[in-house]
Amino acid sequence: MRVFLAGATGAVGRRLVPQLVRAGHHVVATTRSEAKVDVLWNLGAEPVVLDALDAAAVGEAVAKAEPDAIVHQLTALTGQSDLKHFDRTFAETNRLRTVGTDNLLAAAQAAGVRRFVAQSFAGWPTGRSPSNRPGEPTTEADPFDPAPPKHQRESLAAIRYLEQAVTTAPLEGVVLRYGLLYGPVASDDWVRLLRKRRLPIVGDGGGVWSMTHVDDAAGAAVAALTAPAGVYNVVDDDPAPVREILIALAAAAGARRPSRVPVWLARPLAGEVGVSMMTRSRGVANAKARRELGWTPQWPTWREGFRHGLGIAGDAR
Ligand SMILES: NC(=O)c1ccc[n+]([C@@H]2O[C@H](COP(=O)([O-])OP(=O)(O)OC[C@H]3O[C@@H](n4cnc5c(N)ncnc54)[C@H](OP(=O)(O)O)[C@@H]3O)[C@@H](O)[C@H]2O)c1
Repeated sequence: MRVFLAGATGAVGRRLVPQLVRAGHHVVATTRSEAKVDVLWNLGAEPVVLDALDAAAVGEAVAKAEPDAIVHQLTALTGQSDLKHFDRTFAETNRLRTVGTDNLLAAAQAAGVRRFVAQSFAGWPTGRSPSNRPGEPTTEADPFDPAPPKHQRESLAAIRYLEQAVTTAPLEGVVLRYGLLYGPVASDDWVRLLRKRRLPIVGDGGGVWSMTHVDDAAGAAVAALTAPAGVYNVVDDDPAPVREILIALAAAAGARRPSRVPVWLARPLAGEVGVSMMTRSRGVANAKARRELGWTPQWPTWREGFRHGLGIAGDAR
């Protein structure tokens, strides 16, 4: 299959190109930067320099590539860690999820591309539970959070927009809702914060997170090229309270155990979004992806993934 991969140099994209090539696909891979073109050649892809927010350029690049499928892995997360002003932090990512998605979908339809696979997120968008019952992860059938924190509303709207656009476009649309990504590049920011002791556990740290290793995120995108259209939660089998996750990540990174701060002290620093993610988020179930996507996580639990699959930059471990 000829695959047009938008966002090939990111945490997921770099792991996805080699998996696509190994599966026998020809990959046309995008970056905005001439300096990263060689990286893409070396991964086995045909590089294209492209700004995904430039509709005409996207149309031209897709038409020239003549792909059978487009995979959308565009985000703008580099250097962004301010949870308090979540929507501001995600503003460019939100543009890529709205305008970027529109540009790619329009190009796909103009070029007669049959299949479209897009990255979404599983976790905070599908809700917070007041009673925080860790035993009950959400599924694809659960609604989005009807009342997200104020500073997360635009980001939720962008996710909604992307999912609606991809699943209603006149082609085979697949949405992959990844959990919190970890692994090479993806967890580097978390590790940096933990080593500086700037990522404490808030309150009881009882919010439940679902994790996804970047290789499993990439594996799901390969599977999505031939799976039934629809929305899939792509997370590991082990949703767990954030306190356990942060303590284990710190240990794997050789950092000291994270400190704990009460909610009242965390609120002015991390905002309502940070507090909510640490204390109220719910885990996510992957049964549909395991059943219908033809995907099995290589890292079924982050406990194992943190020990052997972090690939921390500049680390010999
Ligand atoms: N914990 C998590 O869930 C999670 C997940 C992902 C990332 N992160 C953190 O965020 C940091 C950066 O993530 P990342 O490596 O995935 O990079 P990123 O900055 O989010 O970029 C992802 C991809 O989107 C592309 N892109 C961005 N804007 C574009 C535009 N306007 N047009 C075309 N392409 C565009 C980038 O390409 P070019 O820049 O090459 O143009 C890149 O290929 C990581 O260090 C990590 O710590 C955390």
